[in-house]
Amino acid sequence: MNKNKRKKKISGFSRNDSQKILATDSSFVVKEAYNSIRTNLLFTHQGEKCPVFIVTSPTANNGKTINSVNLAISYAQMGKRTLLIDADMRNPTIHRLFSIPVKNGLSEILAGLTDNISVSKTDIENLSVLTAGKIPPNPAELLASPRMDKLLEFVREHYDCVFIDTPPVNLVTDATVFAPRVTGYIIIVRADATDISDVKYATDSLKAIDANIIGFILNDANTSSHRYYSYYKRYGYKYKYKYNYNYNYNYDYR
Ligand SMILES: Nc1ncnc2c1ncn2[C@@H]1O[C@H](COP(=O)(O)OP(=O)(O)OP(=O)(O)O)[C@@H](O)[C@H]1O
Ligand SMILES: [Mg+2]
Repeated sequence: MNKNKRKKKISGFSRNDSQKILATDSSFVVKEAYNSIRTNLLFTHQGEKCPVFIVTSPTANNGKTINSVNLAISYAQMGKRTLLIDADMRNPTIHRLFSIPVKNGLSEILAGLTDNISVSKTDIENLSVLTAGKIPPNPAELLASPRMDKLLEFVREHYDCVFIDTPPVNLVTDATVFAPRVTGYIIIVRADATDISDVKYATDSLKAIDANIIGFILNDANTSSHRYYSYYKRYGYKYKYKYNYNYNYNYDYR
């Protein structure tokens, strides 16, 4: 078998696949990566009726959205009624991935412009989406409001688990406002892109507000190279007493 063929066979998402959504025909490595992260997550929320996970990252473009979507799909696939909330009201994208209109989304609910919590069902069984809504001028303020508490109360009653996609934690405060109200944070770190100092800054910011950091996902890593593993693992050892580390080998051979 020539080198290219072998690489193709074990690769994760392809760059040509614009959506990179977990599906029954996704490659074995992709499915295994999400299965393994899901299993780890299932152990972290020990008996909580409806865990609420915040997905964030130190900087932009690390893979928060695709990982929130795919983790939500992974939970939905095991029969859990799952809600995916797009709380990145500055740069909303989830509605596009599912071709859902943004109307009556999170921003409208939190601003009190509607009392109607209109989640959209998706083609994926057990998976619903609450879109970000129209881009508001004050996202952090809206997320910190009592209406967000009410919304979380509502979703906890109606779903088995919730994933919330948020903006990067080092750039804006939006993700941090959830700290006292949720099960915990999943931090996405992108191989070859997220600087270790940014990971440390994000971790320190979340620690400073007593946020529960559940673990990290190393996204877009090329497992043919061990350097990422040892690089991030070294960093991981520093915090090993408190945090779990999950590695999502959603790698792609270019
Ligand atoms: N593991 C991966 N393999 C291939 N492409 C990826 C992978 N992870 C992310 N991408 C691509 O990188 C881009 C950014 O991903 P995504 O939108 O999930 O990041 P984000 O952290 O949500 O970005 P933003 O900070 O802008 O919200 C997208 O085009 C996505 O398809
Ligand atoms: Mg995003």
